[in-house]
Amino acid sequence: MLVEWALSLVNPAPLHLRRLGYVRQSGLLHARSRRCRAAWAPHLTRARGVILAAAEATARRGSAVVLGSGLLDDVPLDALAGLFERVTLVDAVHPWPARLAARPHRTAALVTAEISAGLTDPDLWRICAEADLIVSANLLSQLPIVPIEAYEARGREAPPRLGTQIVETHLAALDRLAAGTGRVCLITDTVQREEDRAGGVTDSHDLMFGVALPKPAEAWDWQIAPFGEIGRRRRLIHRVHAYPDWRASGG
Ligand SMILES: C[S@@+](CC[C@H](N)C(=O)[O-])C[C@H]1O[C@@H](n2cnc3c(N)ncnc32)[C@H](O)[C@@H]1O
Repeated sequence: MLVEWALSLVNPAPLHLRRLGYVRQSGLLHARSRRCRAAWAPHLTRARGVILAAAEATARRGSAVVLGSGLLDDVPLDALAGLFERVTLVDAVHPWPARLAARPHRTAALVTAEISAGLTDPDLWRICAEADLIVSANLLSQLPIVPIEAYEARGREAPPRLGTQIVETHLAALDRLAAGTGRVCLITDTVQREEDRAGGVTDSHDLMFGVALPKPAEAWDWQIAPFGEIGRRRRLIHRVHAYPDWRASGG
């Protein structure tokens, strides 16, 4: 708890995003990613591999945009910066490790934006629409979290379709971008299952809020909370879908 609190204090972010809870959320993720480093490693390797393959398959190499860049744990920034003239990293919070990793790359830019309501900012939309590669990097399932928690913090229930609308809005933005000239690469966790030590599934939770996704080009399990993280006898596994070319997936 102390680590999350300290990270919340030191990570820079505009006040309104801090107040909404994005910095706290980023701190929670940061601390868990470091506690669960070994368990997360296979997932991060797969995600980086998908992004790198998508980048190498992109013919025009003017600019790349990464939505949900966060800690850059799943983003091969050095490779992207080598392949593209410009790389734009978009997130509600750019934690210090990401800022330090981006600093040596003079062609990398950080854009701080809250995008649960879509890519509504005209400048951000233009950057995405002009990009040759747009990556949505393990962001989609996270988008509804803060908006839903904001209702709960006020003792109210979130509108029943809020999560669904947020997921649909992000996918609609990716559809529009994929209809343009750029390649869209989507990586997202889709379902959470809770398992006991015998491998039995004790609970499961649809992270897409009922929105159906097309068949992925690749899929794998992400052990997001190994035994001991949330309980001695249970662990959480997320099923990840990867679409290196969203247009070709029929999404
Ligand atoms: C699971 S992390 C993605 C992993 C990230 N690519 C990495 O390597 O660390 C989800 C990211 O989405 C960001 N995020 C969540 N909701 C957001 C929103 N509404 N707008 C912009 N970014 C958001 C979080 O700040 C976090 O960095």
